[in-house]
Amino acid sequence: MVKLPEVQRLKFLDFFAGSGLVTQGAKPWFHTVWANDISPKKAAVYRVNHGDEHFHLRSITDVTGDTLPAADVSWGSFPCQDLSLAGKMQGLKAKRSGLVWEWLRVMDEMAQRPPILCAENVLGLVSADGGSNYRELHEALVARGYVVGPMVLDAIEWVPQSRPRVFVVAVRKDITLGKFAGEKPAWNHPVPVQRAAEGLNDLVWWKLPQPESCKQTLEDFIERRVEWHPEEKRASNIAMLSASHRQTLMGLPGKRITVPGYRRTRNGVPVLEVRFDGKSGCLRTAEGGSSRQIIVQREGDDLRTRWLSPREAARLMGAPDTYQLPSGYTEAYNAMGDAVAVPVVSHLAQHLLHPLALVASRHETRKPPAKV
Ligand SMILES: C[S@@+](CC[C@H](N)C(=O)[O-])C[C@H]1O[C@@H](n2cnc3c(N)ncnc32)[C@H](O)[C@@H]1O
Repeated sequence: MVKLPEVQRLKFLDFFAGSGLVTQGAKPWFHTVWANDISPKKAAVYRVNHGDEHFHLRSITDVTGDTLPAADVSWGSFPCQDLSLAGKMQGLKAKRSGLVWEWLRVMDEMAQRPPILCAENVLGLVSADGGSNYRELHEALVARGYVVGPMVLDAIEWVPQSRPRVFVVAVRKDITLGKFAGEKPAWNHPVPVQRAAEGLNDLVWWKLPQPESCKQTLEDFIERRVEWHPEEKRASNIAMLSASHRQTLMGLPGKRITVPGYRRTRNGVPVLEVRFDGKSGCLRTAEGGSSRQIIVQREGDDLRTRWLSPREAARLMGAPDTYQLPSGYTEAYNAMGDAVAVPVVSHLAQHLLHPLALVASRHETRKPPAKV
């Protein structure tokens, strides 16, 4: 990745910054001038990797926009619990995912709203409740003077982890979109996005180059010197493998086979479901043991198991091995579990956010969008 000269890096606000992977991905094109998160543990990870001076350990509900520096892009990876299948799906009216409105409130309070906004969340944002959550967000952004486009980018295009996420990019209406606006939906607009967007005003189908599919597999991301489960734990994990998964695992060619899996309950019975496509399932935070991913390794006829390590989780999020993680397992795993994959942010930053932000910064008539 080419690092642009300092002068060309534009100003970035990172809301709900967590452990800093958005700032990490945006870094070659943007300079984060302000970031916040409510979690002290994640704040520590952010600060050790990106510095202390611009990070605010503060709930968004306590942030007022008039204290923020001017910026070209504002990014909000707002909490997903009320939009994810694991939650109760109360959407943007609920307490946690509803913090997106606080993000917009802060933008409203700024002397000038940033010309480009980007919100990120799980697929539920477009698919839950017939897309009503997305439409509400879309209309709120349009009312503030933006044109808006949703898209889905899956980290699996860059790293061996299945992690589809919705990215909503809003650009001030007076900015010329040029080649960045497509005439129709493309690879980054799957059916749920198209359905949620049907009939909306000021909608844009953002045009992004499609990355070459990731050739690497989980095996390429594995740490070699990691502690394996003791016999009792190993045996109970292996006992949870279904007969067909066990048969497939034992029948695969090769001396050493590594597969990832999650424990789930099927018909009231705990099972360890592994996948054989060389990809990891979506990382989550480690609240409750079942959300931690298990590695099963076959060497000859022997099977052993262990937890996916925090460094492996970081690699699956596209973070470099120099990215510092907490020493405790749970804190380190949590730091990665609800983050945004680095190469996905980089792709968006390089091909859409930065070029549009450059157009906006050169725009002669920098009129602030209408206040609502
Ligand atoms: C989806 S995660 C964002 C991850 C982050 N962008 C990253 O890449 O590491 C949502 C974040 O919202 C934070 N959060 C939850 N409630 C908050 C609040 N009231 N104010 C600020 N941050 C909050 C959580 O601590 C969590 O880090």
